[in-house]
Amino acid sequence: NQQHTTDVFRPGFHFAPAANWANDPNGLVYYEGMYHLFYQYHPYSTIWGPMHWGHAVSKDLIQWQHMPVALFPDEHGAIFSGCCVVDWNNSSGLFEDSHGLIAIFTHADTDPDTDQPRQRQSLAYSSDQGHTWHKYAGNPVITEKELIDFRDPKVFWHSQSAHWIMVIVAGDHARLYTSRNLLDWSFTGTFGEGQGSHDGVWECPDLFELPVDDTGYSKWVLIISIGDHPECPEGSRTQYFVGDFDGHTFTNDHPQDHIMWLDYGRDNYAGVTWSDIPEQDGRRVIIGWMSNWKYANNTPTDLWRGAMTLPRALSLTSNNGHTTLIQMPVQEVQQLREQSRYWENVCITPATPFAEPTHSDLIEIDVEIDVRLQDEVHIILKSSQQSEVIVGYDPVQQWLFIDRSRSGITDFHPLFAVKHGANLAIENGQLHLHLWVDRNSIEVYANQGIVALTDQIFPDAPLDSIEISTKSGQATIHSLQLHTLKSIAIQ
Ligand code: FRU
Repeated sequence: NQQHTTDVFRPGFHFAPAANWANDPNGLVYYEGMYHLFYQYHPYSTIWGPMHWGHAVSKDLIQWQHMPVALFPDEHGAIFSGCCVVDWNNSSGLFEDSHGLIAIFTHADTDPDTDQPRQRQSLAYSSDQGHTWHKYAGNPVITEKELIDFRDPKVFWHSQSAHWIMVIVAGDHARLYTSRNLLDWSFTGTFGEGQGSHDGVWECPDLFELPVDDTGYSKWVLIISIGDHPECPEGSRTQYFVGDFDGHTFTNDHPQDHIMWLDYGRDNYAGVTWSDIPEQDGRRVIIGWMSNWKYANNTPTDLWRGAMTLPRALSLTSNNGHTTLIQMPVQEVQQLREQSRYWENVCITPATPFAEPTHSDLIEIDVEIDVRLQDEVHIILKSSQQSEVIVGYDPVQQWLFIDRSRSGITDFHPLFAVKHGANLAIENGQLHLHLWVDRNSIEVYANQGIVALTDQIFPDAPLDSIEISTKSGQATIHSLQLHTLKSIAIQ
């Protein structure tokens, strides 16, 4: 690996820890005007180690303030992934007639009887908006001796059955538990056998209800991240299921071999959604860890390692008998815009590409292109003579891709320098791409978020110019907005 003396890949507008290692987002909760982001954190190194919960807060999901480490390992082990809820009615009895935050997480240690890894579920609570935390004296609250890889609880209040529900994973399946007080839990069912992808161990579930378009009905979404597997070039990634939840079990609407990916890039993992966003706001907001277990410990940053995706609002749409997720960055990202330039009706060919300096290494591109039947379109993000990232659409294969094979530093893992993508059918040749480019990453949203691709990149120089052209033949840029973005100073 090349050595860097400056922090050149520190993101301008994505969350990253001030120093050291971060993985999964944890404990996402909105409470008393603040969005909380906890995350798997190793405060003593830039590689994974005994897990703590790091903590940051934000009023708008964009400008973050770092907070002291929230949860430290204790006599029950390290603090793996989990969630937070607001216990509004003091159903736990931990808040003396008031309300407060409860974190539900996995304690990970070694079983003294068997010497095998042991994972049990525990609680911590805070009466001062997440500043100080107390571990619950009755920890752990769920122990299942025979289960391995039993982790990552996500809890929500289910008003229809007036119970708290926990969805959690155990290796190859998700499990559901219910509780009246967040302390005592009853097992109600499993989901997973033969369902979706089992390319890796199941991790980081989430379960929530969303309206389908404006049909007036809604569906339940079950998110399941799947870990890396040596034979799987994609590494770790996230799938989801759409179906029903009756308070006890989840049923899948789609055939069990129909796999749906949350993101077709390589670097969006362990994403979960915010709890307790007020109902009048109505948003379901997800954030993911922008890395991949395939190479997460090897990425070429010095002081810190591991950043988050942009926060994204989720919705459901139905077409051709399938109900699928749509995602777009939350509207608060618009505050990042600095200078905007606009073009219309530009004809592009290989000899006459659209080419412009970006005037910044932090940009947003919103482009609508009329694509002809045979002609592949490329958006090329150039950093130097040697390094570029290509976002392309091949209308013959109906394939949207990112090619990061010459994107700068790629030699830290043989599977990083790849061209990869997603099927994308477009109507009447209309391709709408919305891109956010940061110093360490690129996020691509196609046709209003029906497909998303998120990738880390490590360019060998700051982004300098963009070029939009066809590989052969021609296309027309119907409209193009290019915004320079400001860097958020995380305090
Ligand atoms: C997912 C994961 C979780 C676990 C945590 C440990 O990336 O493996 O299943 O709780 O990371 O850091």
